[in-house]
Amino acid sequence: MNMVTPIGHPEPLLAALRDKLGAAAVLTGSDVPARNCNDWSASLPQTPLAVIRPLDAQGVADAILTCRQARQPFVPQGGLTGLCRGAAPEAGWVAISLERMTGIEEIDRASMTMTVKSGTPLETIQKAADEAGFFFPLDLGSRGSCAIGGNLSTNAGGNRVIRYGMTRELVLGLEVVLPDGTIITSLNKLMKNNAGYDLKHLFIGSEGTLGIITRVVLRLFPKPRSTMAALCALKDYSAVIALLDAARSGLGPLLSAFEVMWPDYWEVITTRAGVKPPVAAGQGLYVLVEAQGTDESVDGPRFQAWLEQLMERGLLADAAVAQSLAQTQAFWRVRDICAEFGQVLGPHISYDIGLAVARMDEFATRCKAALASGIEGCESVYYGHIGDGNLHLVSWVTGLPVEQQPKEEMDTIIYGLVRDMGGSVSAEHGIGTLKKKWLGHARSEPELALMRTLKAALDPDHLLNPGKVI
Ligand code: FAD
Ligand code: LAC
Ligand code: ZN
Repeated sequence: MNMVTPIGHPEPLLAALRDKLGAAAVLTGSDVPARNCNDWSASLPQTPLAVIRPLDAQGVADAILTCRQARQPFVPQGGLTGLCRGAAPEAGWVAISLERMTGIEEIDRASMTMTVKSGTPLETIQKAADEAGFFFPLDLGSRGSCAIGGNLSTNAGGNRVIRYGMTRELVLGLEVVLPDGTIITSLNKLMKNNAGYDLKHLFIGSEGTLGIITRVVLRLFPKPRSTMAALCALKDYSAVIALLDAARSGLGPLLSAFEVMWPDYWEVITTRAGVKPPVAAGQGLYVLVEAQGTDESVDGPRFQAWLEQLMERGLLADAAVAQSLAQTQAFWRVRDICAEFGQVLGPHISYDIGLAVARMDEFATRCKAALASGIEGCESVYYGHIGDGNLHLVSWVTGLPVEQQPKEEMDTIIYGLVRDMGGSVSAEHGIGTLKKKWLGHARSEPELALMRTLKAALDPDHLLNPGKVI
């Protein structure tokens, strides 16, 4: 690969960046914030040469062109909540942060679209949609910190994929700056537009390796008028599959989340994270089922009746139904608490594998046993968006700092099993650098070759986020 190392004398580059973008847009030395030195992955930070904070697409283009002239590698940064070092700089790189490009430009009520700047936090977008009487369904534990440009670049999944799809399904148009500085403004609002290649899909999910997204047109949805949630305990995984089947057929299009937690997860959150669970421990697997409808007076009783007949059938060992918004939020806290695993478990490695729904429990059992027998002191817990075929696990050896965690050995065991079972090494978090070595476990050689061709066509000098993904 044609990788470029930073130039030896950065001063002329920094002077040119200040000249083009203004001094306030260029942070260097001790002004470089610690947060721009890494993402949320378990890895060591690296200090960039500078953090550039443009205000618009032209500013991004100016930064790119100035870096190009100096043959200087650069990395786009959103909210820096990514989990695989996609947005992390290498030492001496320039970080182009979208943090000052925030705000909602337009809500088009008839088209049901929202046009936003790419640095806007996801939660700001959710609230703006709500205040306008609409719903933006993308939802992740990192909602307060992640930015929509980062969500697009990772094609984020999250909690409501089962109903609304991944980020890719929620985007109609975008504006992007190419690695040669060209600004492509393609703020399409049309649901149907088959005029040539659908270029936005090149950039969605490409983890900042093909262009820097500056604006986005998002799809809005009708605001749900009722939300029903239940936390269910089930004796085994075959009951979980039967519940998923019953939820799909019994709740139909109202089904909005189906999150499963294995007993080891339950044990950790109740004994170490201080969660008071709505259903008792020691019962097998736990499922958070959510449905969203249009009329509380009809949907609430229907949901309750649906659960009761499952209880009568003997499918559920126990179940609690949320009676208020506060209870619904408490149920979600049980699932979102994994965001605090850093404090609860200490340094750990997290995984987001894709697998056939039917084989999740077999994987969890085999993987847990293989990690425990193959790596001394290795523990692991399992949970995830099971209705979407996406299992999460975190693994760790207690007491070891992050750089001493046996990540390579864990990866070898976990991704070997993923390959043997026909899964994907990343269902939603992406590849970054941390999973790059394992991409071939989930993609064929011709697929990898086409990815390299695309990268070389758009970024022949490998200056935009070089060495990430491919
Ligand atoms: P960053 O981390 O800043 O960047 C991610 C990648 O996108 C990098 O490669 C970066 O270079 C690139 N990038 C960022 N902005 C741009 C841009 N404007 N143009 C081009 N490239 C860009 N992910 C899920 O999918 N589902 C989940 O349920 C989920 N839950 C999470 C929970 C927690 C507590 C945490 C910490 C993370 C979670 N994530 C989840 C991972 C992460 O939040 C998502 O990947 C998110 O989409 C990243 O957004 P970001 O703005 O933080 O991106
Ligand atoms: C979650 C993140 C880890 O689903 O993707 O909690
Ligand atoms: Zn997830």
